[in-house]
Amino acid sequence: MAEEKELSYKEAIEKASPSITRFPLIHIRGIPLMCHIANNWDSIWAFRPDPSDLLIATYPKAGTTWTQEIIDLLLHNGDAEACKRAPTPVRSPFLEICSPPPIPSGLDLLNKMNPPRLIKTHLPFQLVPLGFWENKCKAIYVARNAKDNLVSYYYFDLMNKTQPEPGPFDGYIDKFMRGVLSWGSWYDHVKGYWVEREEKNILYLFYEDMKENPRREVERIMRYLDLSVSDDVINRIVELTSFKSMKENPMANYSCVPSPVFDHSVSPFMRKGEVGDWKNHFTPEQSKMFDEDYEKQMKDVDIPFRSLI
Ligand code: A3P
Repeated sequence: MAEEKELSYKEAIEKASPSITRFPLIHIRGIPLMCHIANNWDSIWAFRPDPSDLLIATYPKAGTTWTQEIIDLLLHNGDAEACKRAPTPVRSPFLEICSPPPIPSGLDLLNKMNPPRLIKTHLPFQLVPLGFWENKCKAIYVARNAKDNLVSYYYFDLMNKTQPEPGPFDGYIDKFMRGVLSWGSWYDHVKGYWVEREEKNILYLFYEDMKENPRREVERIMRYLDLSVSDDVINRIVELTSFKSMKENPMANYSCVPSPVFDHSVSPFMRKGEVGDWKNHFTPEQSKMFDEDYEKQMKDVDIPFRSLI
């Protein structure tokens, strides 16, 4: 029998297209997750990382891809070509993602790689496999202000045909506040990692800080990873990870996920990349109502979020 050619990530998605649909969510320990993830939960929870593996954790749409690119470049001393060896989800697998075959799951990709691996997750702190903390893996968390995060997630749910239908924007705000979107409550997510950051040595970053001074944040990540790269390399990394560069980079802009899953014509994955875009979407009434609820949901912590810079 002829040996089957291994499909590229893009080809695998195209092949799976008849099984792609807006998948329902199933709760795992109270957190709504895409059914394919929930149905494979035992193997995800059992994942044992290597101590050299690095975790990058975010609530969806907080700047994951941007941070993955920065870290991959830091690990490759700013070598742009090396970081074009494969698209983001292949270079830096998404721990819990499971999709219809033949799309490889995050675990499939991870099992084929040698540590150290750069592992992405959107799981809230309490659902991260315990091996990460037992093995003292380094972990970077990126948080983005709630309103911009919500707007970005709304556009993503419009274009990502595996996510539940977002519905009208007004109702989406309500869903966000109630924590019923995939991966659960933004409020609990950002708090969960915040309260554990010192104990678990988690580097807690903010999207707004990265926008304000990307160089400072790239250097912060470099120090956390115990790396040392030259000033020239830092400058190059800042340039290569600008919104414009990444939008044009086919290995970073998610063009590897074609239209049965990501319909970039509805909204591009690299959409705006700004702080304060929420102002173009929230009415003053919606903003007031959201802020009042925010005060209540966040009263037990003091996380220095900025919704404008
Ligand atoms: P917008 O929808 O506001 O444009 P994630 O990678 O976690 O899914 O986050 C995606 C969000 O980060 C999108 O936000 C995307 O445009 C933005 N983003 C991606 N790369 C970026 C970059 N280099 N600089 C700024 N924002 C970036």
